[in-house]
Amino acid sequence: MAELPKYDVVSIEDLSLDDIERVFTLADEFAAALSEKRPLNLASGLIMATLFYEPSTRTRLSFESAMHRLGGSVISSAEMAASSAAKGESLADTVRVVSAYADLIVVRHPYDGAARVAAEYAPCPVFNAGDGSREHPTQTLCDLYVLLKKKGHLKGLTVAICGDLTFGRTVHSLIYALARFGANIVAVPNRGMAVPDYVLARLAAERGYSFSTVTMSELKSLAGGLDALYLTPSAPHQMALFTADMPLDAIRTGGEAPVALDAFYVTRFQHERRAPGERERPEYVHFDAGALKTSRTQEAVVMHPLPRTDELAYELDSDPRAIYFEQAAAGVPVRMALIAWLLENAGKPRTRPEPEQPLIRFRVGTAPRCANANCITRHEGRYLHARFRLAPAVNRTVLMLRCEFCEREVKVEYVGHARSRRYYRFDEGLYGYVRQWIDEQSLVIFDDVKQAEESGYGPYRRGPQREVMNADEIARATGALAAQMIADLPDLAAVSLLGVVSRGAVLAMRLRELIRSQTGIAPPCAALDVHTGPEGLHPLDGSESFEVEDRTIVLVDDVINSGWTVQRAMATLWKRGRPAAVKVAVLIDRGHRAIPIRANYVGKNIPTARAERVMVRLGEHEAAAGQKPIDRVVIYSLVETLKQSGEAG
Ligand code: CP
Repeated sequence: MAELPKYDVVSIEDLSLDDIERVFTLADEFAAALSEKRPLNLASGLIMATLFYEPSTRTRLSFESAMHRLGGSVISSAEMAASSAAKGESLADTVRVVSAYADLIVVRHPYDGAARVAAEYAPCPVFNAGDGSREHPTQTLCDLYVLLKKKGHLKGLTVAICGDLTFGRTVHSLIYALARFGANIVAVPNRGMAVPDYVLARLAAERGYSFSTVTMSELKSLAGGLDALYLTPSAPHQMALFTADMPLDAIRTGGEAPVALDAFYVTRFQHERRAPGERERPEYVHFDAGALKTSRTQEAVVMHPLPRTDELAYELDSDPRAIYFEQAAAGVPVRMALIAWLLENAGKPRTRPEPEQPLIRFRVGTAPRCANANCITRHEGRYLHARFRLAPAVNRTVLMLRCEFCEREVKVEYVGHARSRRYYRFDEGLYGYVRQWIDEQSLVIFDDVKQAEESGYGPYRRGPQREVMNADEIARATGALAAQMIADLPDLAAVSLLGVVSRGAVLAMRLRELIRSQTGIAPPCAALDVHTGPEGLHPLDGSESFEVEDRTIVLVDDVINSGWTVQRAMATLWKRGRPAAVKVAVLIDRGHRAIPIRANYVGKNIPTARAERVMVRLGEHEAAAGQKPIDRVVIYSLVETLKQSGEAG
C-alpha cells in the first residue's frame, strides 16, 4: 500500500488548475464506476480520519462514503464535545495523535486558519473541510465540477454570487477558483454582508482581478431586461461586469453587450459566525422560479452549497436548472477523485513557489497579535503565535500585514526600529525602510504611541517643521468648508457626513456642528475606517445606524494627496449601499493625485513637495491619543532625518 504524500489542501489555491482538471477527470471515472456499481479497492488498507468540530451532513458523510467506496476505512470524531478537545487538548496535539491512527485527516473547525495549523502539525496529508469563515475548498471542487458539466466550460461564464458573502466560506474558495478559471463574478451581497476586504485584496494583488458588487435591486434590473446595466467587455475581461465600484451613471454609458447570467450561487445566512446579538436572520435574499423567467436568466443554473434555510423556494427543486442536489451528490465522486489524486502523487515531492513577501520575524515579545478575534492564533496561543507577511502592496500609503493563518489583514499605524529603539507613525515615505527592517529582523509594530513609549521607544526626530496652519486658520478653513457645503447642497436634510478615521471623523463632527448652528439641520455623521471594510463604519452622533441608500454622502478627510484613501472609502461605502451622490470635503488639498479624484469642498490648498509630510493635529484626536489637545498643521521632512541618523538607507 502506497504512503499518501503530504499534499495538504487547505485552500483551493493549493490545487493548480491542472490538479483540478485531473480531479475532475478522475471524478468522471468514479461517477461511472459508481453508476455501474463496480467495486473498487484503490484505497484498500488506508484509513481516513474525519475530525469535525462543527456540524456537517454533506462534507463528512460524502468524504466517508468516498473512502468506503474506494475500499478504505474511516475513523471519525464527529463533534468537539465527544473528543478530547472538550478537555482542552490543542488542535496541534490532536492531529499529531490522530496521524498515528490514520493516513489522511479531513478537518472542519470553527476557527479561521485552523486547517493550516492542522496541516502544519500533522505528518499526514490534511484536507480542509471548512475552517471558520475562511475557505471550504472541497465544496468548491464539487461546485465547479457540476457547473462545468452543465455549461461545458468555466472561462467567460458570468456567475452571480448572492447572500452572506462575508462569512460564507464556500463563497471565498469559489471566488478564488472562478477568478483563476477566467469567469466573471457579480457579487450580490445581502445588505452589510459584502465579500471581505482580505479576499478582495488577495484577488487584486495576486491575480489583478476585481469584480462588481451590485445590490439585489440592481441585479433584478440586470436580470429583468432593463437596458440600464451592461457587461463592459473591458480587458482583462475579468475586470468586471462593470468597472468595480463605479457609479451607476458610468455603468449606464459604458457597455455594449447586455449581460446574460450563467449561474446564480445562493448561500444561506451564516448565523453561527456572528455575535450572539446579531444572529437573528435579517431581511434576506429569497430565490424563486421568477428569477429564471427573463431572457437574461433563462439559461442560468441555480446553485447552493446547502444546507438551505429560506433563501431558495422549494418550488425550484423540480426545475432542471436547480442543480444544488447535484452539487451535493457530486461530493462522493469528487472526493473519491481527490483521494485518488493523492495516491497518484505518492512519491512525488510537492513543489510550491515561495510567497513573494518575506515572513516577518519579530523579536521575542514584539510580535503583534492577529486582529481577527476568530483567528486560530487567538485561541491556541499556548503554542501558536501569529505569523505575518506584508500584504502585497496595491499602494504604499498604508502598511498592511497579512496573518499567515486566517489571512486577515492588519493595518499598521506605528512602526519601530528595534536597534535604535525609535518609533514612527507609518507613512509611505517609510515603506522602503520597513522592508529593510524586516530583512534585518528589527521591525517592531505598535498599536499606538502609548504602547511604543511604554515599551521604551522614543519618537524619531523629524526634519525641520514648518507650521502651515494654526488653530485660527484651521477654524476658518473648516468654516469655509461648511459654507461651501451649505451653499452647494440645497437639501441638507438628505445629506450625511462620513469622516475617514481618524482625523476626517473629527472634522466631520466639527462640520456637523457648524452646519447645525447655521441651518438648524444636524446631518447624520459616522466614521469610516477604510482598512476594515464595510463593517468599519460607526455612527458618531449617537444613532444606532447610518443610512447610505439614496443619501447624499459627504466624505470628509483631513488631507487629500494621492487620492487613494478617498477611492478606498468610496469602494467601502459602495458595499454598504447606493447613495444618491458622493461628495468629497477635505481640510487640505496637497495636489499630487495618483488617481483622478477631485475634492468638491476644500478648506485650503497647500501645494507640497512629494517628499514632505503634512501632519494635521486636531484637539479631539490628540486628546484621545493621550497628547496635548492642539489644532495645528505642520509640514516636515522625515526621510532625511532617517538618512542622517544612519538607521536606515
Ligand atoms: N456544503 C456543506 O459544507 O454542507 P455540510 O455543512 O452539511 O457539510
